[in-house]
Amino acid sequence: MDQIRIRGGKPLKGSIRISGAKNAALPLMTASLLTAEKLVLTNLPFLADITTLVQLLMQHGVHVSMRGAAAGEGEGHVIELTAKEIASTTAPYDLVRKMRASVLVLGPLVARRGEARVSLPGGCAIGTRPVDLHLKGLEALGAEIELAGGYIHARAPKGLAGGHFVFPFVSVGATENLVMAASIAKGDSTLVNAAREPEVVDLCRCLVAMGAKIEGIGGDTLRIQGVPALHAAEHRVVADRIEAGTFAMAAAATGGDVELVGVNLDLIASVAEALERAGVEITATAEGVRARRANGRLTGVDVMTEPFPGFPTDMQAQMMALMAVADGASMITETIFENRFMHVPELTRMGANINVHHASAMVRGVRKLTGAPVMATDLRASVSLVIAGLAAEGETLISRVYHLDRGYERIERKLSACGADIERMGS
Ligand code: UD1
Repeated sequence: MDQIRIRGGKPLKGSIRISGAKNAALPLMTASLLTAEKLVLTNLPFLADITTLVQLLMQHGVHVSMRGAAAGEGEGHVIELTAKEIASTTAPYDLVRKMRASVLVLGPLVARRGEARVSLPGGCAIGTRPVDLHLKGLEALGAEIELAGGYIHARAPKGLAGGHFVFPFVSVGATENLVMAASIAKGDSTLVNAAREPEVVDLCRCLVAMGAKIEGIGGDTLRIQGVPALHAAEHRVVADRIEAGTFAMAAAATGGDVELVGVNLDLIASVAEALERAGVEITATAEGVRARRANGRLTGVDVMTEPFPGFPTDMQAQMMALMAVADGASMITETIFENRFMHVPELTRMGANINVHHASAMVRGVRKLTGAPVMATDLRASVSLVIAGLAAEGETLISRVYHLDRGYERIERKLSACGADIERMGS
């Protein structure tokens, strides 16, 4: 298994091209199940999760072709997906367990074919993560749902009728499943308290390009007028705001200066605001966003994760690594997922001073972190260790690099191009 070795202390300087967002690309790919015509997605990131979803879609009968530059280079990949016929409406356990986002085939399959059997995704490293809202929402649109043998069985033999659903709290994935299903339901649907994340907006825009009728995009109430069929379209995947925020924090942690090319400041507004409070200069440029920590130390600031436009849970671990080397204390509160502090013991091993109490972590900044062998159990936790390693004195060896590869396109190439001493080692 690969490891990543970092020798810390080098300021990051230069420019980094931000890839298309994984969390937008995955639902967009499943939208191909809604039409018999071709869906073309450009600016697709080249990541392990994309390959996993390609496998799943292929076994549903989707014809897939992909082209583009090597990972981490050029303008991203182009994928063409054509679901002329749905060969199977079953998403099997051995594929779904690899990636929770597989559950996004549920809405499109039941809407198009009147039936879907999708394995329950099961537990994951950052909490129990149930799918009850996906199921209740589909029921509100007219599906009958049964759970048996570890599978969700959704049926709507005469097609989905459409309906009204109020989310008791915001769910990105459930909103995506429902908006896709509602777009080809027989009647109209309203989704209240829907997620407003940029990835949801990107999906809605693509569905509109495919012929869906959706009002309220970007707001918390989506009104969808079902249409009999969707058609071919081409769509560019939105930039990855989490990748951009991660590199902004890496620049800040090392006293660096980087331009994040291809991302719009609006996409990372809450992260930019937290970084500015901490003493990082964030400016919009012609090509993207510049993040710079010119001189002086960082200041500890408090953050709380919230649904968009609040501070993203997917940036919480990286912010904690940054706050570990700031002056003063910082309270970091996680409100979206329980058990999302697995990076804390590893950061502590590098010299960070962090105490967790329920959903909050009190971080008392230290002058220096020191390199250590570390490993993490999920994607964002792993990348927080990369940030810590870049800021630390000495050598950090990160194991279980496959977590990083799920969400970051060849991270070591992008960082070493900006002067980081980082390399991937096969073992
Ligand atoms: C998506 C993102 C993930 C991000 C998260 C929150 C993808 C592929 N993943 O995950 O990176 O961290 O949004 O921004 O886009 N919940 C329920 N029942 C449900 C669904 C969710 O209780 O049926 C809970 C979850 O356990 C969690 C909260 O709702 O506590 C939010 O989850 P959700 O927004 O659904 O996250 P995902 O779509 O899984």
